[in-house]
Amino acid sequence: MKRYAVFGSPISHSQSPRIHAAFAQQCGIAMAYVAIEAGRDDFAAILAASGVQGANVTLPLKETAFALCTDASARARRAGAVNTLLRDGDGWRGDNTDGLGLVRDLTERHGLDLRERRVLLLGAGGAARGVAPTLLDAGIRELVVANRSPERADALADAMGDPGRVHARGWDALPALGEFDLLVNATSAARGVGLPPLPMALAGLRSAAVDLSYGEAAVPFLAWARAAGCMHAVDGLGMLVEQAAESFRLWHGVRPETDPVYAALNGQGDALVTAD
Ligand code: ATR
Repeated sequence: MKRYAVFGSPISHSQSPRIHAAFAQQCGIAMAYVAIEAGRDDFAAILAASGVQGANVTLPLKETAFALCTDASARARRAGAVNTLLRDGDGWRGDNTDGLGLVRDLTERHGLDLRERRVLLLGAGGAARGVAPTLLDAGIRELVVANRSPERADALADAMGDPGRVHARGWDALPALGEFDLLVNATSAARGVGLPPLPMALAGLRSAAVDLSYGEAAVPFLAWARAAGCMHAVDGLGMLVEQAAESFRLWHGVRPETDPVYAALNGQGDALVTAD
């Protein structure tokens, strides 16, 4: 049986094994998909020893994984980060389905129109890099990248090669940035000391906020978004399901239905089969 895995740290709470098991059952594909703990230093060795045909990669490994690819898709090269690995002879081909997953979730599941929107991207690490190119491709008007370390925001903005639309700012510039149509939290702050207070003036009554994490990690930012009056406050569960479907398609050549899996994970609809 072909073997797949998601690598990251921490990884024990990942929903990816449940999602891929449900997709495999739906499509009649026999495969195993497990979660494997790996940090930046030991990832290459653990991946090599794992015997997987393909893999997903999550925090904090998306940029490390890009660096070990022998080949990468255009969107992964633009992001400098991968979330999907496909075996390619003795090496690995990298792709990044995060951006597509986010845009599908926002536009198709939540009915948002991203064209001509003003977007704030909080964070400039691997998660932010994964979604920035696809947000630009979706036709947004402006992308402001705000990061605690301003030099990383500069690097992300430079990598997008679109100086007319993409602007980098330090965290201290937030109070002067005005209102955004879409606010994306791509920081890992909830896993550490938490986000510093965000100015309420960043959001308005028609704004949408999305946190790329799900579960407990998404609670503080989404609570802020509701308090700031945002019309939509969305966690990263839908994006997770959509990026997984796109990875599944790359490995198996068939795109599964995502709505029943999203409903099951959200506690609506039928329960999912378990990975074991
Ligand atoms: P990921 O793959 O999740 O992007 P990462 O590359 O380690 O992981 O990036 C984490 C992001 O969260 C960075 O943008 C980081 O800001 P710095 O570049 O300044 O480190 C941001 N981040 C983490 N903790 C934060 C906090 N407490 N406040 C603000 N930003 C934070």
